[in-house]
Amino acid sequence: MFDLAAEMTRRRDENIALFGAHVNPRLTKVLQLIGFAKTYVRAEGAYLYDAEGKDYLDLLAGYGVFGVGRNHPAVVRTLRQYLDLDIASMVQLDAPLLAGMLAEKLLALAPGTLENVFLTNSGTESVETALKFARAAAGRRKVIYADKDFHGLTLGALSVNGNRDFRDGFEPLLPDTVPVPFGDAAALEAQLAAGDVAAVILEPIQGKTVHVPPEGYLADVARLCRAHGAIFILDEVMTGLGRTGKLFCAEWENVEPDIVIVSKALSGGFVPVGAVLFRRWIYDKVFSSLERCVVHSNTFGRGGMAMACGLTVLDILREERLPENALAMGQAIMDGVRDLQRSNPMIKDVRGRGLMIAIELQPPRGLWGRLQGALMDKLSPGLLAQSFVVPLMSDHRILTQVGGHAADVIRLLPPLMIGRKEVDRFLGAFAAVLEAAKKFPGPIWEIGSRLAGHAIKGR
Ligand SMILES: Cc1ncc(COP(=O)(O)O)c(C=O)c1O
Repeated sequence: MFDLAAEMTRRRDENIALFGAHVNPRLTKVLQLIGFAKTYVRAEGAYLYDAEGKDYLDLLAGYGVFGVGRNHPAVVRTLRQYLDLDIASMVQLDAPLLAGMLAEKLLALAPGTLENVFLTNSGTESVETALKFARAAAGRRKVIYADKDFHGLTLGALSVNGNRDFRDGFEPLLPDTVPVPFGDAAALEAQLAAGDVAAVILEPIQGKTVHVPPEGYLADVARLCRAHGAIFILDEVMTGLGRTGKLFCAEWENVEPDIVIVSKALSGGFVPVGAVLFRRWIYDKVFSSLERCVVHSNTFGRGGMAMACGLTVLDILREERLPENALAMGQAIMDGVRDLQRSNPMIKDVRGRGLMIAIELQPPRGLWGRLQGALMDKLSPGLLAQSFVVPLMSDHRILTQVGGHAADVIRLLPPLMIGRKEVDRFLGAFAAVLEAAKKFPGPIWEIGSRLAGHAIKGR
């Protein structure tokens, strides 16, 4: 019989070789280059552990999946209970209790008057669903999105993805998808004025580079959509479930979108799940008759384990006051980095809300700094930020990442349960890396030129 624990122990140190051979060799190479090719054997809360018991502070949280932290005991308990209950799941021609319970709870917590939920397996599937629903309900085809927005990588979601690097090689995508500048309500109004727009899809805060729109923008978008008969889809896959300091980011401006999407953190980091929350009139248009009651459907979307994780996560968020904690800890990180910024012109900008934070860097002012910076930029934009991410990991065992393409942005997406200890560990490490970056020639520039060399070879 397959013995998971024994097999994992027996093959523990083969992870890099196996992944490199059979899954994604180039990703494996990049991980090796930046010192991220590790073998983790355990995880808890905000930490990963290697076989020697060394701890790694995880400020990526699985791209935002581990809102409640890794292996949260309440989610583990739920999953154990689930297995012991021998639940009859995925009958398909049934009305699963857990799906109804999760939908009921999400709708009670969501902004505005949303009345139905479609359950999915991921963020991008949720976006596909929302786009289909909006087009069918509005009886129009055009969809407006914001440049630099990220909504996933399947074909429909990619059609409203404002990042050229992701689109290249896969076009043509869906027709009638039009980008507008993020944060510019007038530009949006100009598009809506034609009266042929089915939907506007936006991230409330752009996740890749953490761009926060001007105050009042989301409320303006909601108002303009209403005025022009367009459906407002708010993609809260990253921002939702506490990350920005409220359960839904829409709450910051009392916005009432027509469709809200959540995913990532709802999973508790265990079972993929997504949810599309929408207004009843949209339901009536899409599922318009008994014959069309499953006109949009999926096989795994209401899976019992995923539903059970979602219910547990919503409970933990409230019980542990994680949105409030995210706001306080996010502020502490941003305040700390702003303190460093006063004496460090390499920090160009610090922005974010709650635990969704970007630190934007720029080359130092001296001639050598400018030359080096320009060189790095020419060779591979984003290399300066990568030169910080590498020593944060190698010298301080902290996982961060470069946010977006061609941007010198370090993105932080910590679990929402981090405390002062984790904040201080990051701030101390970041200060040390900044200090090292002042030296030329010095370790940061060496890392930069090494990575640049590989980038050229890889072309
Ligand atoms: C805002 C947003 N929407 C959609 C997605 C796609 O989600 P998934 O990776 O689960 O398909 C992401 C993923 O990062 C996201 O950040």
